[in-house]
Amino acid sequence: MIAKSLLQKLARKHGTPLFVIDHDELRKNYRAFRRHLPRVQVYFAVKANSDPAIVRTLFKEGASFDVASMPEFMIVHENIKHLSAKKRQDWIWDKIIYANPTKPTETLEKLNRYKPLVTFDNREEIYKIKQHAPDAGLALRLKVPNTGAMVELSSKFGATPGEAVDLILEADKNGLVVEGISFHVGSQTTNFENYVQALSLTAAIFKEAQDRGYTKMNLLDIGGGFPAPYDATVKPLKDLAKIINSEIERLFPKNIQVLAEPGRFLVASAGYAVSKIIGKAVRDGKTSYYINDGVYHTYSGVIFDHCHYPIRSFKKGRTSLCSVFGPTCDALDVISMAENLPNLERDDFVYSTNIGAYSNASATYFNGFPPAKVVHVNQ
Ligand SMILES: Cc1ncc(COP(=O)(O)O)c(C=O)c1O
Repeated sequence: MIAKSLLQKLARKHGTPLFVIDHDELRKNYRAFRRHLPRVQVYFAVKANSDPAIVRTLFKEGASFDVASMPEFMIVHENIKHLSAKKRQDWIWDKIIYANPTKPTETLEKLNRYKPLVTFDNREEIYKIKQHAPDAGLALRLKVPNTGAMVELSSKFGATPGEAVDLILEADKNGLVVEGISFHVGSQTTNFENYVQALSLTAAIFKEAQDRGYTKMNLLDIGGGFPAPYDATVKPLKDLAKIINSEIERLFPKNIQVLAEPGRFLVASAGYAVSKIIGKAVRDGKTSYYINDGVYHTYSGVIFDHCHYPIRSFKKGRTSLCSVFGPTCDALDVISMAENLPNLERDDFVYSTNIGAYSNASATYFNGFPPAKVVHVNQ
């Protein structure tokens, strides 16, 4: 946890809006994941925050990577470009999954020379991969319950359990190798039952595939969804890990390779946003604060990620209910209509914690306001 005094100091030095990334926290989260899920190979989902310095720190920790676009692939590749061709190829095969089930043909053509592992969830994708990336390995993305997740993914992605083995056999018929099955229980999943159901569905599909003669699968990808500690109601990873470890033990053979694609869990608590009050008005008896960061910038997760980031003050004092708006000339740029803050003045700094995931990753230049400056600490 970065001290409040350091955040203020950094804001004075670098100006605002400022986005601070704590690399000690990245390492701490990665190590906690490894400790609680020792059988699981950790593929950081780069989309959660694709800052190359984050990728670099996790690379040095020994992480693997889930990429979902060619630019994300190249951010990871930057770290291995000095390796010999053979070593680079082995590393990519062992440590990268291209986990976007639908890929443009141009991307597949670029990817093929790296022979990566890619996901798919429909017939059309099988034919596309066969034509444009025949050297890739495949993982079938399965549709699983996303009940209660903050971000639901199952309506856009995943083959239904009923069609799963037909798709695996179709890929096989087309000369492709399906290495295993992947799923995603929905992002920020606090309903741990989702993992139990997903593992049970996956085990049933492994069995059906085997019964129907397909025996090449050896990989179980349990996706992302691991919750970040946004508030005290979120149960710790340790509790979820106990459930996952025992279900994997119960349902799958010892030699199966297990991987996960955590994004949010690794980066959320490593990010801080510091901004300042640029305007103040009273509307309908309630104070409105205007700050120089908003939902088109670091607070983009309010819109895209359905996430609420409490706004905190460095000042103490009696608080009252107020609204906090972003700087753009757009009515959608509302960070919160209900924050409790002490009386603040123009140029006072405010900040948010736990804002490292799906935040500056989706910041825009809307209305001429650039994204917040990024500062790395404990790198
Ligand atoms: C395929 C895939 N894997 C992993 C992730 C990361 O999920 P999370 O940030 O919930 O851990 C996502 C997020 O959308 C995803 O789509």
